Amino acid sequence: MSTMTLYHSPASPFVRKVLVLLHETGQTERVALHAVQLTPVAPSADVLHDNPAGKIPALRLADGTVLHDSRVILDYLDSQHVGEPLIPTGGARWRRLTLASLADAVLDAAVLLRYETFLRPEDKRWDQWQAAQQEKIERALAYFESECLAELASRFDIAAIGLACALGYLDFRQPQLGWRERFPGLAAWYADVSQRPSMRDTHPK
Ligand code: BEZ
Repeated sequence: MSTMTLYHSPASPFVRKVLVLLHETGQTERVALHAVQLTPVAPSADVLHDNPAGKIPALRLADGTVLHDSRVILDYLDSQHVGEPLIPTGGARWRRLTLASLADAVLDAAVLLRYETFLRPEDKRWDQWQAAQQEKIERALAYFESECLAELASRFDIAAIGLACALGYLDFRQPQLGWRERFPGLAAWYADVSQRPSMRDTHPK
């Protein structure tokens, strides 16, 4: 039976990270999804009631406590299962959290690019700002490609989940970036992890 409620949009890559972790840790049944539609300029009243920032994911626990920000929610949910933690507690912890943070930077930039082209009126768009977001994505992916392939392949943990959701979001909203052409190692890794049930069941829509 569900004891928690997750504010959810099938397009949000930050929500997807939470869903993937729930799947990977066998906790899917513990969380009911509360579908919301929102943008930064059209917030959801339901979400605002529980998170003044108006952002998803937000997770309401059984006792009414609300957690928000995907990193906080992932940390909480990772403490609620008996298997191997997906946020390492040993020596690898800070490295894996740093890689997860870099993956989140890719996501942040990709979401900002989406808002810039989807929400911002054409006469207010700023090409240089868009280019800077794309460059941030390129630098981060170049780092993952040149420095992290073996680390990523070693475990599907917090860092790998973050990057897999970021690459999935690029495919979903920024396919014209064609990241696979420049990052073939990441493309191979992503093709592999995309076969995981947790990734297949949470494809963005
Ligand atoms: C999107 O539609 O791209 C989106 C939705 C929710 C959060 C972030 C992005």
